[in-house]
Amino acid sequence: MRGIILAGGTGTRLWPVTRSVSKQLMPVFDKPMIYYPLSVLIDNGIREIMIITTPREHDQFRGLLGDGSQWGIRIEYGLQERPEGIAQAFLIAERFLDGRPVVLILGDNLFHGIDFRDRTGGPEMTGGHIFAYPVVDPSAYGVVEFDESGHVLSIVEKPRNPLSRYAVPGLYLYDADVVKIAQSLTPSARGELEITAVNEEYRRRGTLTVSVLGRGAVWLDTGTFSDLVHAAEYVRVIEQRQGLKVGCVDESAWRAGLITDDQLRSLADPLTRSGYGEYLHGLLEWRTGTGRIA
Ligand code: G1P
Repeated sequence: MRGIILAGGTGTRLWPVTRSVSKQLMPVFDKPMIYYPLSVLIDNGIREIMIITTPREHDQFRGLLGDGSQWGIRIEYGLQERPEGIAQAFLIAERFLDGRPVVLILGDNLFHGIDFRDRTGGPEMTGGHIFAYPVVDPSAYGVVEFDESGHVLSIVEKPRNPLSRYAVPGLYLYDADVVKIAQSLTPSARGELEITAVNEEYRRRGTLTVSVLGRGAVWLDTGTFSDLVHAAEYVRVIEQRQGLKVGCVDESAWRAGLITDDQLRSLADPLTRSGYGEYLHGLLEWRTGTGRIA
């Protein structure tokens, strides 16, 4: 299974801040936003990832993340010329996907404590799989209604009167058919190829499944200034309590065995002044000491 992180968009809801800086490069407490989805993919076994950016911001992403080899993964880049919808990602990534199943994660969605490895079964993955997460106001999202057996009854984009409290987070798993489905879509009233239309097509075929993200799992939005502050605050609280970082790509790569202790050390060395590098050095010390952290 291959991964896509969609980090395009104009970020107009965060203007003037995002007029010259990509939203997904903005900090969420102590790291760039894109580190969070990237570490989720690595934690869930994805090793080949395409990052889709606007042409203007491509160099900044490449400067930060490179080709991924420093973390033992492969990163490719795709360009979204205009913000024409989430489902456009599959058209941009068609060659990269090369007929494989895919997990798409939005570059501005922050997840913590989620494990979808049992759903990334490789070539035998069929249909589409989405997640459901209870929120107070689902009307800002795709909203899914389902029965007790997890069978999707309806999925509606930003409904005025939501039929359930379950929003659909920006994390989607699809089989290889998704490219053809995206090709068949027409733009919605807001001029976008809607991800909800992709899900609706899988639902129509009877191959869309949904699972509820447990109450212990965290999904936060970073759409508005307040959301951004909340997300940063969440990360700060957890990190300062546990002494363990959220969304630390270097740590994810090391824990997954993709890089050696020595490689982690050399990633850490230039970063010590911010405390980030100290943290990475600390991981090595804990491991060799008595207080090993799992
Ligand atoms: C998009 C999707 C929506 C989904 C949300 C998750 O909304 O269209 O279905 O629930 O991402 O963040 P947008 O970011 O376009 O408002």
